[in-house]
Amino acid sequence: MGRKKLIDLRTEYHQRELNETDIDKNPFKQFDVWFNEAVDAKCYDPNAMALATSTFEGKPSVRLVLLKMIDERGLAFFTNYDSKKSRQILQNPFGAVVFFWPELERQIRIEGKIVKSSDSESDLYFRTRPEASKIGAWASPQSQVIPNRRYLEQLQADFREEFNGKTIKRPPNWGGYRLVPSIFEFWQGRANRLHDRIQYSFTNNVWVTERLAP
Ligand SMILES: Cc1cc2nc3c(=O)[nH]c(=O)nc-3n(C[C@H](O)[C@H](O)[C@H](O)COP(=O)(O)O)c2cc1C
Repeated sequence: MGRKKLIDLRTEYHQRELNETDIDKNPFKQFDVWFNEAVDAKCYDPNAMALATSTFEGKPSVRLVLLKMIDERGLAFFTNYDSKKSRQILQNPFGAVVFFWPELERQIRIEGKIVKSSDSESDLYFRTRPEASKIGAWASPQSQVIPNRRYLEQLQADFREEFNGKTIKRPPNWGGYRLVPSIFEFWQGRANRLHDRIQYSFTNNVWVTERLAP
């Protein structure tokens, strides 16, 4: 795509507003309201969130993961514990996620500390995965260099054979993390770039809300 095209790409937002009087004092409840609306609006992969982590020196990296559980303890996602993201979380437990629901002209940003889920929580979620995904968790040495696609398919075939007819247990290097939020920001696109931004920060054990300039 030429540069001219990129310059011309410009969406005007206008559908909705976000007012201090409309929001729930509890950001988790506000998240639920927006998340349910994203599901109802048939947003594509509404639980996909970009997760940013960084190294000890603060070199960042970002990728999409799926939100699989949320309650007042935080937002849970599942992954390989030897992956690049997991290595970064070990080096620096602070992380951030962002959801984008273009159909609703909305973004939610969340920042906080990432903690590992308990084995029992990871087991509980692993049991709900389809069999092919369970095998996939065993077969993929996530984030490692592999020689070719064939290598991966062979690993998948090998594990399929190994588990044939048996219960597929959770791989020891696979499980959950929870992002424990200290900041939420709800962003609603508005006309002429005068967007609404409401930030919640956890201060002295209460959630304080403030409006931010767009
Ligand atoms: C929509 C979408 C959802 C994804 N969900 C997950 C997920 O829940 N867990 C996961 O480990 N990777 C997920 N991935 C793959 C990651 O983006 C990434 O490629 C992988 O986790 C390796 O990242 P890393 O090398 O930074 O650790 C998803 C990718 C996309 C596009």
